[in-house]
Amino acid sequence: MCHSGAMHSRRGETYIGGDYSIPTGMEPDVHYKKNIHCVDCHTTGEKGMGDKLRKANCQSCHIEIEEAHAKSIHKNLDCATCHVNELRGYQVVIWGPGLVAGKESPFKKYSLYYGIQSPPVLMKDQKGKWMPVKVFPHSVGNIKPEVKPSERLMFRWPKGEAKDPYYIVGTFNIGANDKHLLWIEIQQASHPYGKGRSCESCHKEKQIATSTWEYMDDQGTEDTFKGGYKITADKNSLKITDMKNTTPIKVSEGYKLEDFVSWLFLKDKWQMSGDFSIKAEKDKYKKYLMLSKSIDREIKALDNYTKNKDKKIQKRFKELKGIALHNEDMAMELIQEFKIKKQTNQK
Ligand code: HEC
Ligand code: HEC
Ligand code: HEC
Ligand code: HEC
Repeated sequence: MCHSGAMHSRRGETYIGGDYSIPTGMEPDVHYKKNIHCVDCHTTGEKGMGDKLRKANCQSCHIEIEEAHAKSIHKNLDCATCHVNELRGYQVVIWGPGLVAGKESPFKKYSLYYGIQSPPVLMKDQKGKWMPVKVFPHSVGNIKPEVKPSERLMFRWPKGEAKDPYYIVGTFNIGANDKHLLWIEIQQASHPYGKGRSCESCHKEKQIATSTWEYMDDQGTEDTFKGGYKITADKNSLKITDMKNTTPIKVSEGYKLEDFVSWLFLKDKWQMSGDFSIKAEKDKYKKYLMLSKSIDREIKALDNYTKNKDKKIQKRFKELKGIALHNEDMAMELIQEFKIKKQTNQK
Protein backbone atom coordinates (compact mmCIF):
# COMPACT_ATOMS: atom_id res chain seq x y z
CA MET A 1 0.00 0.00 0.00
CA CYS A 2 1.53 3.31 -1.08
CA HIS A 3 0.47 6.59 0.57
CA SER A 4 -1.00 4.69 3.46
CA GLY A 5 -2.38 6.18 6.66
CA ALA A 6 -6.02 5.60 7.40
CA MET A 7 -5.76 8.05 10.29
CA HIS A 8 -5.58 10.97 7.89
CA SER A 9 -8.46 12.10 5.81
CA ARG A 10 -7.02 11.65 2.36
CA ARG A 11 -4.66 8.77 2.11
CA GLY A 12 -4.85 5.59 0.10
CA GLU A 13 -6.72 3.72 2.79
CA THR A 14 -9.54 6.23 2.79
CA TYR A 15 -10.02 5.23 -0.84
CA ILE A 16 -10.16 1.51 -0.16
CA GLY A 17 -12.14 1.64 3.10
CA GLY A 18 -13.34 -1.66 4.61
CA ASP A 19 -10.64 -3.29 6.73
CA TYR A 20 -8.17 -0.59 5.70
CA SER A 21 -10.12 2.19 7.36
CA ILE A 22 -9.90 3.03 11.07
CA PRO A 23 -12.37 2.30 12.55
CA THR A 24 -12.85 -0.50 10.04
CA GLY A 25 -15.98 -0.82 7.97
CA MET A 26 -16.01 2.42 6.01
CA GLU A 27 -17.88 2.27 2.72
CA PRO A 28 -15.17 2.10 0.01
CA ASP A 29 -14.89 4.82 -2.65
CA VAL A 30 -17.34 4.16 -5.52
CA HIS A 31 -14.36 3.97 -7.87
CA TYR A 32 -12.65 1.27 -5.84
CA LYS A 33 -15.75 -0.86 -6.21
CA LYS A 34 -15.49 -0.35 -9.99
CA ASN A 35 -11.88 -1.51 -10.01
CA ILE A 36 -10.46 1.93 -10.74
CA HIS A 37 -6.91 2.38 -9.48
CA CYS A 38 -5.03 5.22 -7.82
CA VAL A 39 -3.19 6.06 -11.02
CA ASP A 40 -6.38 6.32 -13.06
CA CYS A 41 -6.93 9.61 -11.23
CA HIS A 42 -3.43 10.42 -9.98
CA THR A 43 -1.70 10.45 -13.33
CA THR A 44 1.96 9.64 -12.83
CA GLY A 45 4.93 11.64 -14.03
CA GLU A 46 8.41 10.39 -14.85
CA LYS A 47 9.27 9.83 -11.22
CA GLY A 48 6.13 7.85 -10.47
CA MET A 49 3.02 8.83 -8.56
CA GLY A 50 4.90 11.43 -6.50
CA ASP A 51 5.90 13.37 -9.57
CA LYS A 52 2.85 15.38 -10.58
CA LEU A 53 0.61 14.39 -8.30
CA ARG A 54 -1.38 15.81 -5.68
CA LYS A 55 -3.87 16.82 -8.32
CA ALA A 56 -6.21 14.22 -9.68
CA ASN A 57 -7.89 14.06 -13.04
CA CYS A 58 -11.53 13.17 -13.63
CA GLN A 59 -12.02 14.43 -17.14
CA SER A 60 -11.32 11.28 -19.03
CA CYS A 61 -14.36 9.69 -17.41
CA HIS A 62 -16.78 12.44 -16.38
CA ILE A 63 -16.31 15.09 -19.02
CA GLU A 64 -20.01 15.92 -19.55
CA ILE A 65 -20.56 16.20 -15.82
CA GLU A 66 -17.53 18.43 -15.37
CA GLU A 67 -18.75 20.74 -18.11
CA ALA A 68 -22.30 20.90 -16.78
CA HIS A 69 -21.04 21.48 -13.25
CA ALA A 70 -18.70 24.26 -14.38
CA LYS A 71 -21.73 26.24 -15.63
CA SER A 72 -24.02 25.52 -12.68
CA ILE A 73 -24.97 27.46 -9.54
CA HIS A 74 -22.54 25.15 -7.71
CA LYS A 75 -19.54 25.75 -9.96
CA ASN A 76 -17.70 27.10 -6.95
CA LEU A 77 -17.85 23.68 -5.23
CA ASP A 78 -15.22 21.00 -5.64
CA CYS A 79 -16.81 17.63 -6.64
CA ALA A 80 -15.84 16.19 -3.25
CA THR A 81 -17.90 18.88 -1.45
CA CYS A 82 -21.09 17.00 -2.30
CA HIS A 83 -19.70 13.48 -2.71
CA VAL A 84 -17.65 12.87 0.46
CA ASN A 85 -19.99 11.93 3.30
CA GLU A 86 -17.89 10.64 6.15
CA LEU A 87 -14.39 11.00 7.60
CA ARG A 88 -12.55 8.56 9.82
CA GLY A 89 -9.20 8.28 11.58
CA TYR A 90 -7.88 10.63 14.31
CA GLN A 91 -10.56 12.78 15.98
CA VAL A 92 -8.47 14.34 18.79
CA VAL A 93 -4.69 14.70 19.10
CA ILE A 94 -3.01 15.41 22.46
CA TRP A 95 0.70 15.60 23.28
CA GLY A 96 1.80 15.06 26.87
CA PRO A 97 4.36 13.22 28.99
CA GLY A 98 4.71 9.53 28.18
CA LEU A 99 7.00 6.91 26.72
CA VAL A 100 8.39 7.40 23.24
CA ALA A 101 10.38 4.42 21.97
CA GLY A 102 10.63 3.18 25.58
CA LYS A 103 12.03 6.47 26.95
CA GLU A 104 10.27 9.17 29.01
CA SER A 105 9.42 12.16 26.87
CA PRO A 106 7.45 15.38 27.47
CA PHE A 107 5.98 14.99 23.98
CA LYS A 108 4.27 11.65 23.56
CA LYS A 109 1.60 11.92 20.87
CA TYR A 110 -1.72 10.56 22.11
CA SER A 111 -3.47 10.48 18.79
CA LEU A 112 -5.29 7.19 18.80
CA TYR A 113 -8.67 8.76 19.39
CA TYR A 114 -10.11 6.89 16.43
CA GLY A 115 -13.58 7.64 15.20
CA ILE A 116 -16.05 8.91 12.66
CA GLN A 117 -16.87 12.52 11.76
CA SER A 118 -19.95 13.24 9.68
CA PRO A 119 -21.04 15.04 7.61
CA PRO A 120 -17.85 16.90 6.64
CA VAL A 121 -17.83 20.63 7.43
CA LEU A 122 -17.47 22.70 4.24
CA MET A 123 -15.01 25.56 3.87
CA LYS A 124 -13.47 27.69 1.16
CA ASP A 125 -9.89 27.03 0.07
CA GLN A 126 -7.27 29.73 -0.69
CA LYS A 127 -8.97 30.48 -3.99
CA GLY A 128 -12.48 30.64 -2.58
CA LYS A 129 -13.53 27.21 -3.84
CA TRP A 130 -15.59 25.11 -1.44
CA MET A 131 -14.15 21.82 -0.19
CA PRO A 132 -15.06 19.28 2.50
CA VAL A 133 -12.77 19.24 5.54
CA LYS A 134 -12.09 17.30 8.70
CA VAL A 135 -11.93 19.59 11.73
CA PHE A 136 -10.35 18.30 14.94
CA PRO A 137 -8.86 19.62 18.18
CA HIS A 138 -5.10 19.48 18.86
CA SER A 139 -3.21 20.30 22.04
CA VAL A 140 0.48 20.12 22.99
CA GLY A 141 1.49 20.33 26.66
CA ASN A 142 4.87 21.32 28.10
CA ILE A 143 5.11 24.52 26.10
CA LYS A 144 7.04 27.43 27.69
CA PRO A 145 6.34 30.55 25.63
CA GLU A 146 2.98 32.22 25.40
CA VAL A 147 1.50 31.87 21.90
CA LYS A 148 -1.10 34.30 20.57
CA PRO A 149 -4.22 33.18 18.68
CA SER A 150 -4.22 33.43 14.89
CA GLU A 151 -6.03 36.49 13.60
CA ARG A 152 -8.12 34.38 11.25
CA LEU A 153 -8.19 31.03 9.48
CA MET A 154 -4.65 30.38 8.20
CA PHE A 155 -3.31 28.30 5.30
CA ARG A 156 -0.03 26.42 5.56
CA TRP A 157 0.54 26.80 1.85
CA PRO A 158 -0.88 30.19 0.88
CA LYS A 159 -0.06 29.59 -2.79
CA GLY A 160 -2.23 26.51 -2.84
CA GLU A 161 0.15 23.56 -3.17
CA ALA A 162 -2.07 21.96 -0.52
CA LYS A 163 -5.30 23.28 0.88
CA ASP A 164 -5.22 22.43 4.59
CA PRO A 165 -6.12 25.39 6.81
CA TYR A 166 -5.49 25.68 10.57
CA TYR A 167 -6.21 28.04 13.43
CA ILE A 168 -4.01 28.59 16.51
CA VAL A 169 -6.24 29.02 19.56
CA GLY A 170 -3.45 30.05 21.97
CA THR A 171 -1.76 28.77 25.14
CA PHE A 172 -3.56 27.83 28.37
CA ASN A 173 -2.70 26.70 31.89
CA ILE A 174 -4.50 23.75 33.43
CA GLY A 175 -2.25 23.28 36.47
CA ALA A 176 -0.01 20.58 35.00
CA ASN A 177 2.50 20.08 32.19
CA ASP A 178 3.30 23.81 31.80
CA LYS A 179 1.32 25.59 29.08
CA HIS A 180 -0.87 23.83 26.55
CA LEU A 181 -0.78 25.08 23.00
CA LEU A 182 -4.11 24.56 21.25
CA TRP A 183 -4.96 24.67 17.59
CA ILE A 184 -7.76 23.54 15.31
CA GLU A 185 -6.37 21.17 12.72
CA ILE A 186 -8.26 21.23 9.44
CA GLN A 187 -7.62 18.80 6.59
CA GLN A 188 -9.04 18.79 3.12
CA ALA A 189 -10.89 15.52 2.51
CA SER A 190 -10.44 13.80 -0.85
CA HIS A 191 -11.71 10.23 -0.52
CA PRO A 192 -14.00 8.30 -0.40
CA TYR A 193 -16.46 9.40 -3.06
CA GLY A 194 -20.02 8.23 -2.47
CA LYS A 195 -23.56 9.40 -3.11
CA GLY A 196 -24.18 13.13 -3.54
CA ARG A 197 -25.50 14.97 -0.47
CA SER A 198 -29.05 16.33 -0.38
CA CYS A 199 -29.81 20.07 -0.75
CA GLU A 200 -31.15 20.20 2.80
CA SER A 201 -28.03 18.69 4.33
CA CYS A 202 -26.03 21.80 3.33
CA HIS A 203 -28.56 24.61 3.11
CA LYS A 204 -29.23 25.13 6.80
CA GLU A 205 -28.71 28.01 9.16
CA LYS A 206 -25.64 26.29 10.62
CA GLN A 207 -23.31 23.53 9.56
CA ILE A 208 -23.35 20.86 12.26
CA ALA A 209 -21.10 17.81 12.30
CA THR A 210 -20.61 15.20 15.00
CA SER A 211 -17.60 13.14 15.91
CA THR A 212 -17.65 9.94 17.94
CA TRP A 213 -14.43 8.19 18.88
CA GLU A 214 -12.78 5.51 20.98
CA TYR A 215 -9.39 5.93 22.68
CA MET A 216 -7.13 3.10 21.53
CA ASP A 217 -3.65 4.10 22.78
CA ASP A 218 -1.97 1.63 25.11
CA GLN A 219 -0.58 4.39 27.37
CA GLY A 220 -2.48 6.45 29.94
CA THR A 221 -5.09 3.80 30.58
CA GLU A 222 -5.29 0.04 30.21
CA ASP A 223 -8.90 0.15 29.04
CA THR A 224 -10.33 2.01 26.14
CA PHE A 225 -12.93 4.74 26.62
CA LYS A 226 -15.39 6.37 24.26
CA GLY A 227 -16.54 9.90 23.63
CA GLY A 228 -17.42 12.54 21.11
CA TYR A 229 -17.95 16.20 20.25
CA LYS A 230 -19.92 18.51 18.02
CA ILE A 231 -18.68 21.04 15.43
CA THR A 232 -20.86 24.03 14.63
CA ALA A 233 -20.00 26.50 11.87
CA ASP A 234 -22.12 29.53 11.00
CA LYS A 235 -21.82 33.14 9.91
CA ASN A 236 -20.01 34.18 13.08
CA SER A 237 -17.81 31.32 14.13
CA LEU A 238 -16.62 27.75 14.09
CA LYS A 239 -16.81 25.97 17.45
CA ILE A 240 -15.99 22.55 18.79
CA THR A 241 -18.34 21.93 21.73
CA ASP A 242 -19.92 19.14 23.80
CA MET A 243 -16.55 17.38 24.16
CA LYS A 244 -17.10 14.47 26.51
CA ASN A 245 -16.23 10.92 27.36
CA THR A 246 -19.26 8.62 27.42
CA THR A 247 -17.57 5.74 29.25
CA PRO A 248 -15.33 6.09 32.34
CA ILE A 249 -11.60 6.81 32.11
CA LYS A 250 -9.46 4.68 34.44
CA VAL A 251 -6.05 6.31 34.69
CA SER A 252 -3.05 3.94 34.88
CA GLU A 253 -0.41 4.35 37.56
CA GLY A 254 2.21 6.93 36.65
CA TYR A 255 -0.13 8.93 34.42
CA LYS A 256 -2.46 11.91 34.98
CA LEU A 257 -5.59 12.95 33.09
CA GLU A 258 -3.72 16.12 32.09
CA ASP A 259 -1.21 13.97 30.15
CA PHE A 260 -3.43 12.25 27.63
CA VAL A 261 -6.92 13.71 28.21
CA SER A 262 -5.93 17.35 28.64
CA TRP A 263 -8.98 18.30 26.55
CA LEU A 264 -11.13 17.53 29.62
CA PHE A 265 -9.78 20.77 31.13
CA LEU A 266 -9.92 22.75 27.90
CA LYS A 267 -13.32 21.71 26.58
CA ASP A 268 -14.79 24.85 25.06
CA LYS A 269 -11.55 26.50 23.99
CA TRP A 270 -11.40 25.28 20.39
CA GLN A 271 -13.31 28.14 18.78
CA MET A 272 -12.63 30.79 16.19
CA SER A 273 -14.55 33.63 14.64
CA GLY A 274 -15.16 33.95 10.92
CA ASP A 275 -17.92 33.46 8.37
CA PHE A 276 -18.50 29.77 7.67
CA SER A 277 -22.08 30.05 6.48
CA ILE A 278 -23.44 28.61 3.25
CA LYS A 279 -25.34 31.40 1.57
CA ALA A 280 -28.18 31.19 -0.91
CA GLU A 281 -30.83 33.84 -1.33
CA LYS A 282 -34.13 32.41 -0.02
CA ASP A 283 -36.28 32.75 -3.13
CA LYS A 284 -33.57 31.54 -5.44
CA TYR A 285 -33.00 28.52 -3.24
CA LYS A 286 -36.71 27.70 -3.20
CA LYS A 287 -36.91 27.95 -6.96
CA TYR A 288 -33.95 25.62 -7.47
CA LEU A 289 -35.16 23.22 -4.83
CA MET A 290 -38.52 22.84 -6.64
CA LEU A 291 -36.73 22.51 -9.94
CA SER A 292 -34.42 19.82 -8.65
CA LYS A 293 -37.36 17.87 -7.24
CA SER A 294 -39.04 17.80 -10.63
CA ILE A 295 -35.75 16.84 -12.29
CA ASP A 296 -35.46 13.92 -9.87
CA ARG A 297 -38.98 12.79 -10.74
CA GLU A 298 -38.30 12.96 -14.48
CA ILE A 299 -35.04 11.07 -14.10
CA LYS A 300 -36.68 8.35 -12.06
CA ALA A 301 -39.33 7.86 -14.72
CA LEU A 302 -36.76 7.76 -17.52
CA ASP A 303 -34.59 5.42 -15.47
CA ASN A 304 -37.45 2.93 -15.49
CA TYR A 305 -38.15 3.48 -19.16
CA THR A 306 -34.53 2.95 -20.32
CA LYS A 307 -33.89 -0.11 -18.15
CA ASN A 308 -34.83 -2.62 -20.83
CA LYS A 309 -33.81 -0.55 -23.85
CA ASP A 310 -30.73 -1.07 -26.03
CA LYS A 311 -27.21 0.02 -25.05
CA LYS A 312 -27.28 3.13 -27.20
CA ILE A 313 -30.37 4.57 -25.49
CA GLN A 314 -29.00 3.64 -22.08
CA LYS A 315 -25.77 5.41 -22.83
CA ARG A 316 -27.58 8.50 -24.00
CA PHE A 317 -29.70 8.49 -20.88
CA LYS A 318 -26.68 8.10 -18.61
CA GLU A 319 -25.11 11.17 -20.16
CA LEU A 320 -28.33 13.12 -19.78
CA LYS A 321 -28.67 12.03 -16.17
CA GLY A 322 -25.11 13.11 -15.32
CA ILE A 323 -25.72 16.55 -16.77
CA ALA A 324 -29.23 16.97 -15.33
CA LEU A 325 -28.04 16.10 -11.82
CA HIS A 326 -25.32 18.75 -11.99
CA ASN A 327 -26.97 21.64 -13.74
CA GLU A 328 -30.61 22.47 -13.02
CA ASP A 329 -30.63 25.16 -15.71
CA MET A 330 -29.70 22.74 -18.48
CA ALA A 331 -31.74 19.80 -17.22
CA MET A 332 -35.33 20.39 -18.30
CA GLU A 333 -34.55 21.21 -21.90
CA LEU A 334 -32.40 18.10 -22.29
CA ILE A 335 -35.06 15.97 -20.65
CA GLN A 336 -37.70 17.30 -23.06
CA GLU A 337 -35.43 16.56 -26.04
CA PHE A 338 -34.87 13.04 -24.80
CA LYS A 339 -38.60 12.51 -24.37
CA ILE A 340 -39.37 13.74 -27.88
CA LYS A 341 -36.81 11.33 -29.33
CA LYS A 342 -38.31 8.63 -27.18
CA GLN A 343 -41.74 9.28 -28.68
CA THR A 344 -40.48 9.24 -32.26
CA ASN A 345 -38.68 5.99 -31.45
CA GLN A 346 -41.89 4.49 -30.22
CA LYS A 347 -43.74 5.32 -33.42
C1 HEC B 1 -11.56 8.84 -8.37
C2 HEC B 1 -10.27 9.48 -8.42
C3 HEC B 1 -9.26 9.09 -7.34
C4 HEC B 1 -8.75 7.85 -7.11
C5 HEC B 1 -9.04 6.56 -7.87
C6 HEC B 1 -7.80 7.99 -6.03
N1 HEC B 1 -7.74 9.31 -5.63
FE1 HEC B 1 -6.45 10.09 -4.29
N2 HEC B 1 -7.28 11.94 -4.54
C7 HEC B 1 -8.26 12.24 -5.46
C8 HEC B 1 -8.55 13.66 -5.39
C9 HEC B 1 -9.56 14.42 -6.23
C10 HEC B 1 -7.68 14.22 -4.42
C11 HEC B 1 -7.57 15.68 -3.99
C12 HEC B 1 -6.55 16.38 -4.82
C13 HEC B 1 -6.51 17.89 -4.61
O1 HEC B 1 -7.53 18.47 -4.31
O2 HEC B 1 -5.44 18.45 -4.74
C14 HEC B 1 -6.90 13.10 -3.90
C15 HEC B 1 -5.93 13.23 -2.93
C16 HEC B 1 -5.07 12.20 -2.55
C17 HEC B 1 -3.95 12.36 -1.65
C18 HEC B 1 -3.56 13.64 -0.95
C19 HEC B 1 -2.61 14.45 -1.75
C20 HEC B 1 -2.20 15.65 -0.94
O3 HEC B 1 -2.39 16.77 -1.42
O4 HEC B 1 -1.72 15.47 0.17
C21 HEC B 1 -3.33 11.13 -1.54
C22 HEC B 1 -2.10 10.78 -0.72
C23 HEC B 1 -4.07 10.22 -2.38
N3 HEC B 1 -5.12 10.89 -2.99
C24 HEC B 1 -3.75 8.88 -2.55
C25 HEC B 1 -4.49 7.97 -3.28
C26 HEC B 1 -4.21 6.54 -3.35
C27 HEC B 1 -3.02 5.85 -2.67
C28 HEC B 1 -5.17 5.98 -4.14
C29 HEC B 1 -5.40 4.52 -4.46
C30 HEC B 1 -5.42 3.60 -3.33
C31 HEC B 1 -6.03 7.09 -4.59
N4 HEC B 1 -5.59 8.26 -4.05
C32 HEC B 1 -7.08 6.94 -5.48
C33 HEC B 1 -8.87 11.36 -6.32
C34 HEC B 1 -8.62 10.00 -6.40
C1 HEC C 1 -11.26 5.69 -15.05
C2 HEC C 1 -12.54 6.37 -15.08
C3 HEC C 1 -12.86 7.29 -13.92
C4 HEC C 1 -12.12 8.34 -13.43
C5 HEC C 1 -10.71 8.78 -13.85
C6 HEC C 1 -12.94 8.99 -12.46
N1 HEC C 1 -14.14 8.35 -12.35
FE1 HEC C 1 -15.70 8.84 -11.14
N2 HEC C 1 -16.72 7.19 -11.72
C7 HEC C 1 -16.31 6.29 -12.65
C8 HEC C 1 -17.28 5.19 -12.73
C9 HEC C 1 -17.22 3.99 -13.66
C10 HEC C 1 -18.29 5.47 -11.77
C11 HEC C 1 -19.52 4.62 -11.41
C12 HEC C 1 -20.81 5.35 -11.68
C13 HEC C 1 -20.98 5.67 -13.12
O1 HEC C 1 -20.93 4.74 -13.93
O2 HEC C 1 -21.17 6.85 -13.45
C14 HEC C 1 -17.90 6.74 -11.17
C15 HEC C 1 -18.68 7.41 -10.22
C16 HEC C 1 -18.37 8.64 -9.68
C17 HEC C 1 -19.21 9.36 -8.77
C18 HEC C 1 -20.60 8.95 -8.36
C19 HEC C 1 -20.78 8.67 -6.93
C20 HEC C 1 -22.20 8.26 -6.66
O3 HEC C 1 -22.37 7.14 -6.15
O4 HEC C 1 -23.10 9.01 -6.96
C21 HEC C 1 -18.56 10.52 -8.48
C22 HEC C 1 -19.02 11.62 -7.55
C23 HEC C 1 -17.32 10.52 -9.20
N3 HEC C 1 -17.22 9.36 -9.94
C24 HEC C 1 -16.39 11.54 -9.15
C25 HEC C 1 -15.14 11.49 -9.74
C26 HEC C 1 -14.12 12.50 -9.57
C27 HEC C 1 -14.28 13.76 -8.76
C28 HEC C 1 -13.03 12.09 -10.30
C29 HEC C 1 -11.69 12.77 -10.42
C30 HEC C 1 -11.01 13.11 -9.18
C31 HEC C 1 -13.38 10.84 -10.92
N4 HEC C 1 -14.66 10.51 -10.56
C32 HEC C 1 -12.55 10.13 -11.76
C33 HEC C 1 -15.17 6.39 -13.41
C34 HEC C 1 -14.13 7.30 -13.22
C1 HEC D 1 -24.10 20.31 -5.47
C2 HEC D 1 -23.74 18.94 -5.21
C3 HEC D 1 -22.93 18.17 -6.22
C4 HEC D 1 -21.70 18.52 -6.76
C5 HEC D 1 -20.90 19.78 -6.53
C6 HEC D 1 -21.31 17.42 -7.60
N1 HEC D 1 -22.25 16.42 -7.56
FE1 HEC D 1 -22.21 14.64 -8.56
N2 HEC D 1 -24.08 14.18 -7.86
C7 HEC D 1 -24.80 14.95 -6.98
C8 HEC D 1 -26.07 14.30 -6.69
C9 HEC D 1 -27.15 14.81 -5.75
C10 HEC D 1 -26.08 13.10 -7.46
C11 HEC D 1 -27.21 12.07 -7.50
C12 HEC D 1 -27.12 11.11 -6.34
C13 HEC D 1 -25.97 10.16 -6.55
O1 HEC D 1 -26.07 9.26 -7.39
O2 HEC D 1 -24.93 10.35 -5.92
C14 HEC D 1 -24.79 13.05 -8.17
C15 HEC D 1 -24.39 12.02 -9.00
C16 HEC D 1 -23.14 11.92 -9.60
C17 HEC D 1 -22.71 10.82 -10.44
C18 HEC D 1 -23.52 9.58 -10.76
C19 HEC D 1 -24.34 9.84 -11.98
C20 HEC D 1 -25.15 8.62 -12.39
O3 HEC D 1 -25.14 8.30 -13.59
O4 HEC D 1 -25.82 8.02 -11.53
C21 HEC D 1 -21.44 11.11 -10.86
C22 HEC D 1 -20.58 10.26 -11.78
C23 HEC D 1 -21.09 12.40 -10.31
N3 HEC D 1 -22.13 12.85 -9.55
C24 HEC D 1 -19.89 13.05 -10.54
C25 HEC D 1 -19.59 14.33 -10.11
C26 HEC D 1 -18.40 15.07 -10.50
C27 HEC D 1 -17.32 14.54 -11.42
C28 HEC D 1 -18.49 16.30 -9.92
C29 HEC D 1 -17.53 17.48 -10.07
C30 HEC D 1 -17.32 17.93 -11.45
C31 HEC D 1 -19.71 16.32 -9.13
N4 HEC D 1 -20.36 15.11 -9.28
C32 HEC D 1 -20.14 17.39 -8.35
C33 HEC D 1 -24.42 16.15 -6.42
C34 HEC D 1 -23.26 16.85 -6.73
C1 HEC E 1 -22.53 19.91 -0.28
C2 HEC E 1 -23.33 21.08 0.07
C3 HEC E 1 -24.40 21.56 -0.89
C4 HEC E 1 -25.41 20.83 -1.46
C5 HEC E 1 -25.67 19.34 -1.34
C6 HEC E 1 -26.21 21.78 -2.18
N1 HEC E 1 -25.69 23.04 -2.08
FE1 HEC E 1 -26.45 24.73 -2.90
N2 HEC E 1 -24.80 25.76 -2.32
C7 HEC E 1 -23.80 25.25 -1.52
C8 HEC E 1 -22.80 26.27 -1.34
C9 HEC E 1 -21.50 26.12 -0.53
C10 HEC E 1 -23.23 27.41 -2.05
C11 HEC E 1 -22.52 28.76 -2.18
C12 HEC E 1 -21.81 28.76 -3.49
C13 HEC E 1 -20.84 29.89 -3.64
O1 HEC E 1 -20.30 30.38 -2.64
O2 HEC E 1 -20.60 30.25 -4.80
C14 HEC E 1 -24.51 27.05 -2.63
C15 HEC E 1 -25.30 27.91 -3.39
C16 HEC E 1 -26.59 27.63 -3.78
C17 HEC E 1 -27.48 28.58 -4.38
C18 HEC E 1 -27.17 30.05 -4.69
C19 HEC E 1 -26.48 30.15 -5.97
C20 HEC E 1 -26.37 31.57 -6.46
O3 HEC E 1 -25.88 31.71 -7.57
O4 HEC E 1 -26.80 32.50 -5.77
C21 HEC E 1 -28.67 27.94 -4.62
C22 HEC E 1 -29.90 28.52 -5.27
C23 HEC E 1 -28.50 26.56 -4.17
N3 HEC E 1 -27.23 26.41 -3.68
C24 HEC E 1 -29.47 25.59 -4.25
C25 HEC E 1 -29.24 24.24 -3.97
C26 HEC E 1 -30.18 23.17 -4.28
C27 HEC E 1 -31.57 23.35 -4.85
C28 HEC E 1 -29.57 21.99 -3.92
C29 HEC E 1 -30.05 20.57 -4.11
C30 HEC E 1 -30.34 20.20 -5.48
C31 HEC E 1 -28.28 22.35 -3.37
N4 HEC E 1 -28.12 23.71 -3.43
C32 HEC E 1 -27.37 21.43 -2.87
C33 HEC E 1 -23.73 24.00 -0.98
C34 HEC E 1 -24.57 22.95 -1.31
